[in-house]
Order: sequence, then structure tokens, then C-alpha cells
Amino acid sequence: MSNHLGSICDVKGDKISFFMKKDANLSFGQIVRVDSGGRSFYARVVNAQSKSTLETGEQLREAEGKETFGPYSCYKNIEAILFLEKRAGKVRSPTFNPNYMDKVFQTTQEDSAVLKLGGELQIGNFRSGESMLGNVGIDSDAIPRMLGMFGMTGSGKTNTELIVNAQLIDHSPQTAGLIFDFAGQLLEGKELFNVGLRDHPLFHSKVCFYSTKAGKMRVGLRTLRPEKLRNLFSDITDPQYRLAQKIYGQLGEEWIEKVCEVWERNGPAGVTKLVSAHKGTINALMQKLTHLNPALFPPSPYSFIDDVIENISQGVTCLVDISGITAEEQHRIVCLTASGVANHYKREWERNYERWQLLPTLLITLEEAHEFLDPARERTIFSSIALTYRKYRVGLNAVTPRPSRINPDVFAELWTKVIMKTELKADRDYLTKNTPYLEYSDTELKMLDIGEALLISEPKIRFAVPVKVVHYADYLKTREKVDYRLPPSKTFEVMGKKLKQLQNAGKSLGNS
Ligand SMILES: Nc1ncnc2c1ncn2[C@@H]1O[C@H](COP(=O)(O)OP(=O)(O)OP(=O)(O)O)[C@@H](O)[C@H]1O
Ligand SMILES: [Mg+2]
Repeated sequence: MSNHLGSICDVKGDKISFFMKKDANLSFGQIVRVDSGGRSFYARVVNAQSKSTLETGEQLREAEGKETFGPYSCYKNIEAILFLEKRAGKVRSPTFNPNYMDKVFQTTQEDSAVLKLGGELQIGNFRSGESMLGNVGIDSDAIPRMLGMFGMTGSGKTNTELIVNAQLIDHSPQTAGLIFDFAGQLLEGKELFNVGLRDHPLFHSKVCFYSTKAGKMRVGLRTLRPEKLRNLFSDITDPQYRLAQKIYGQLGEEWIEKVCEVWERNGPAGVTKLVSAHKGTINALMQKLTHLNPALFPPSPYSFIDDVIENISQGVTCLVDISGITAEEQHRIVCLTASGVANHYKREWERNYERWQLLPTLLITLEEAHEFLDPARERTIFSSIALTYRKYRVGLNAVTPRPSRINPDVFAELWTKVIMKTELKADRDYLTKNTPYLEYSDTELKMLDIGEALLISEPKIRFAVPVKVVHYADYLKTREKVDYRLPPSKTFEVMGKKLKQLQNAGKSLGNS
């Protein structure tokens, strides 16, 4: 038997009010159950008022200590919104509402099972007041239906990203992640977490790390065909793009290196000799090409993106650390990589459906998503992914503290939303206006604690579930170390002997 919270005193449409028992405990957003005859209803607490049976004048005189009145009753009146009904074992949207004096209860583990919150990619626990009930997770089907994680600085977004990606790694090779780490904190966790993806027990077999520091992140100029320029330079115009195609037609694979040489030697006149074009267009395109950072874009046929594609196809999650380079370069690397990987999925779907079926379902995690999904900007690879890549099983996880700066068309496509503490009014208004089932949660959004979230994951979870996201360090504690079955390494003594033998053999070869 769950805790009795109170009894219904008023019902109108999907709004119910109940008197709360004196010793009961409740919080905004909490989910309660109302038993009504053969049905149970589930409702979310949206408002609370304290009142007494005294009239205003009497209350005032009592407050000022002028008179005492009595006996009178004080009561707490709670408002809640119905969102589900359970009848004969079936759960659906409410078809009716409860009756006067029906009893209201705190939700239990059993209710958590009824609400079917435990998806395979577990992210936390169902919060019911102070208690933590069953697991809450999303299904892998939710990945291509796109995700969004929102919350102000310090609300726990990065932790949630770590948890979701740890789950993708655990479910490899059915799922894989591609993560862009702008702050360079996901590998080691830095001082915020002290643990990162490097501490995941499957890190050595299921994760690949790329960073500019180790020189592993290079995109050879010879891999850049003109069509990729749209991802490299968001402001490229159609005439500049057509000019790039003409130059590529003339010079082939090494077109960027060669045209830059010509430009350095003979300026615009040299390029005009190669292809005919307006001088302004040539200048604008050449400004772009000559300013590519040679450390990231060397003249070679190697691109780390091919390696990323290969790894992801095998179910290996790729962590791309783009800290330490300029914002412009970050933008270039992120767009090029995401488009390379997403287009691989598209191409396989179009040309080799059987091979495509073997690809893991992919989730691309993008922090600072507002920079790439701004309504004022032209369509980017990320808006295309969110709007059209569902059928290829490529999902986007847009993470941002500023949801109101995300294009509303894209926002509507993010069917799974993890909403954390948000104080800014503009963002709360945007979230509550544009997210179904959140219209009464404005107050709740600013009252959430670190790591607390509201989760909506359509079509499976059609209401805002209060969740406490598992802390990544605690998740790691529940994971056992993985035995890679490697043979024990030899002792230094044995290795030293072998080295000496090799040195001696080398010397004798040198003498002969
Ligand atoms: N579920 C949680 N339980 C306990 N502590 C948490 C939880 N989630 C995050 N924290 C702690 O809160 C702090 C901030 O978390 P996090 O870095 O994830 O926030 P953020 O939203 O990504 O912030 P920013 O916008 O600055 O990147 C960290 O110290 C982290 O350890
Ligand atoms: Mg963060």
C-alpha cells in the first residue's frame, strides 16, 4: 500500500484539486496516483495553496494578535493535471476523470513499472518526492527520433551526455556515438568529475579518441571535394561554389594545393588563366582556401574522418576533442566530420541496404548546439540531420543552455528531451511553449536541482517524467572491470634478457 496523500475536493476536465494530509510530503512536478473505482489516474502536481476556514478579516485580526478565533481548520489545497489512466491493465490518455473524495497516493515502484519508464538506455531514476523509484531510460528507437538536452550552466548536461554515451558504448555494436567535445572534458572529466570516458571499462575496445593535440585530427586537402566546401565555409556563395567546381575539373584531386600555389605566384591573373570567373568571386574563394590552417588541413590524401567512419561502422564510439582550436576551426571540423559520417549512412542506405542494416544506430552529440541550429543561419548539416536523417538511423543530440536559440522547426523534431534547471525566462517560455506536456511546468523548471531533469521521449513516454540522472562516477562504480583475456605481460627481467640478446645479435651482424 502506498502512502496516502489526501482526497479529491474538486475536479474539472483534466484538472484536479485535493486536500493534502497534514503529515504528507509533496513537491512541484511530483507524479501522484488517484484510485477511482476500477481505474487509476496519474496526475502531475502543478500548484499548491495553503488556506484556513477563517475569513480574511478574522485572519488579519488573528495575525496582528488582536483576537483569537477558533476552532478553525487549516488546509493545503493541491492542484494537479491528469495525464494517464490505467484500466484493466491498459494504460492510455485519460478518457474521464476521478470523483469527489477519491484517494490520492504517492507513486510506488509498482506505478513506475506501470508507467513503462525503463528503456534499454538507462539514464536515471524516477523521482517521486524525496524517494527514487525504478530506472528510467530511453529505447534505442528514440535515437534516430533525435534528442535534446537543455539546462543552464552547471545543471548537469555534460553528466547526462556521459551517461547516455556510456549506455551507447554498453550496447555496442547495436549503437554507437559520435561526440564533439568543445571543452575537452569528456575524456578525463577534468576537475568537475575526475572520471571520464577513459574510465569506462570498455574504453580500450569500444571508444576511439581524436584530438588536435596528438596530431590525430587532420583532414587532407586532397579529400576536400568542392561539395564539401559548404560544410567548411558557411558563407560560401553559389558563384564561389561553381568556381571551385571549375577549378576542381581543371586540376583534379590536388586542386586546392595547386590553385593556392598559382594564387601565391601570380595572384588573381594566374587563376583567371586557369578558369574564367569574376575577379571578386576569385578573390573571395581564394581568401577562404588560403586561410585554412595547415596543421588541420595539410596537403595529403589522409583524413581522420575516414577513420571515424570505419570505427563507427564497427560500433566504436568516437570522441572528437576540439578544444584548443579557434571557434571557426571547431565549426569546420564539426560540420565536416558530421556530414562525412551521416552521408556514409545515407549512401549505404541508398546503395547497399544490407550493409546499412549492419551499421549501428548512431547518436551524434553536439554541445553548443545553438551555434549550429540558429534560426537566423542557413540550413546546416545538423538541421538536415535533425529534419531528414531519421530513416538512415542517424540521430542528433542537441545540447545547449540556450534552447530558445534553436530553430523551432528543428526543436519540434527532437522527440526526446532532457530538460534540466533553467532560470532564464526566455528559455523557460520557449521550452514550455514548444514542448508537449510541459505547459504547466514553468515553475518546476527553475526549481530543479543539479542532476534533476524532466524527460519526455515520444512516442513512448508521453508526459514529463521527473528523473534524477545517475552521476557518471556512481555509474562507473556499478560496472565491473572488463577482462580482455590478454596474456600476462613478461617480467622486466625476461624482457631485459631478450633485449640484450637482440643487441648482441645486432652487434655481431654489424661486425660481420
Ligand atoms: N546527476 C548528478 N548528480 C550529482 N552531481 C551532478 C549530477 N550531474 C552533474 N553533477 C555535478 O554538477 C556539476 C556540473 O555538472 P555538468 O558539468 O554536467 O553541468 P553542465 O550543465 O554541463 O554545465 P556547463 O553548462 O557549464 O557545461 C559537476 O560538478 C557534476 O559533477
Ligand atoms: Mg557541460
